[in-house]
Amino acid sequence: MSRTIPVGLGARAYEVVVGAGLLEDAGARLKPFLKTRRAAVVSDETVWALHGARLSAALEREGVQALPVVVPPGEQTKSFEGLADLSDRLLALELDRGDLVVAFGGGVVGDLAGFAAAIYKRGIDFVQVPTTLLAQVDSSVGGKTAIDTPRGKNLVGAFHQPRLVLADLDVLATLAEREMRAGYAEVIKYGLLGDFGFFEWLEANGPKVLAREPDALSRAVARCVEMKAEIVAHDEKEQGRRALLNLGHTFGHALEAETGYGAALLHGEAVAAGQALAFRFSAAQGLCPAQDARRAAAAIAAAGLPTTLAEVPGHPFSAERLVRHMAQDKKAEAGRLTFILARGIGDAFVAKAVDQAAVRDFLIAEGAQP
Ligand code: GLY
Repeated sequence: MSRTIPVGLGARAYEVVVGAGLLEDAGARLKPFLKTRRAAVVSDETVWALHGARLSAALEREGVQALPVVVPPGEQTKSFEGLADLSDRLLALELDRGDLVVAFGGGVVGDLAGFAAAIYKRGIDFVQVPTTLLAQVDSSVGGKTAIDTPRGKNLVGAFHQPRLVLADLDVLATLAEREMRAGYAEVIKYGLLGDFGFFEWLEANGPKVLAREPDALSRAVARCVEMKAEIVAHDEKEQGRRALLNLGHTFGHALEAETGYGAALLHGEAVAAGQALAFRFSAAQGLCPAQDARRAAAAIAAAGLPTTLAEVPGHPFSAERLVRHMAQDKKAEAGRLTFILARGIGDAFVAKAVDQAAVRDFLIAEGAQP
């Protein structure tokens, strides 16, 4: 059983397929997008060892030659060096514009392979086969591709929409518990930003989603993709509403920058804490009932995710340094901070020109050092 969700982007429209057992028919599903019979499958060592043989076999069953390009796992691969290495390996395969790049992995692989596809010979088609919950509900959909630089995350990149996204729920069976919870932070984000009913459903069914019960997992992933597809279709280049998807990310990115983008704090964990902070900041500004901020944090904490600075490795943080990271974020315009704040659960909005001093005072009240 699978569900197909269209992303309505005119000439760049595509479908996201969510369901079990999709790797097995990947060959048949990819074939319509192949002008030749070759696909470079970019993956990381972990995903490739677990699932590579199944994907290769599925492609080859349909007469498609799978050319594996396996990269080291981890955020450090999403760098200029990683991009140069991947581009060189695609060139060595003599990949041309009729061939296809398949991004087979989590957010790192999707972002890196997608960006490489965007610039390889000025652009080559690619397909996303996301293998983490986070990539399935967020990063594989919408065409954002990027690498990190020493100055911050995702600062160099391109919008390059995939031709297809295959979100196979079966591959989540091998995902580490911690990665599953980190991805769940992005699931809950959709409820918090724009669907109170979904949030309530998650309050009741979150444990089933985390336990990977097929029906609950399928419903959660499909609802997130549906919301993302709708937002992206109306605002592909993030001129407006798409920014809502960054709920929790301004606080979260600052925490990631302070902890070094490593295993100490996963992106989803940073976003979890960031969302609780964004709700409490909204309440502190008199924008949102304190009760909603407490309820949002309780739902995040119930998934075993951090909701306070004290739970983030590296605490106590310097409020000054956190605010400086926020000011460097690419979403900051002319020195003013842009945040996604909330009027309540399911009702987020873009707040421009947020006062830096108010953020600093709030962080100090949250336990950061002056
Ligand atoms: N992950 C946020 C976006 O795709 O816009």
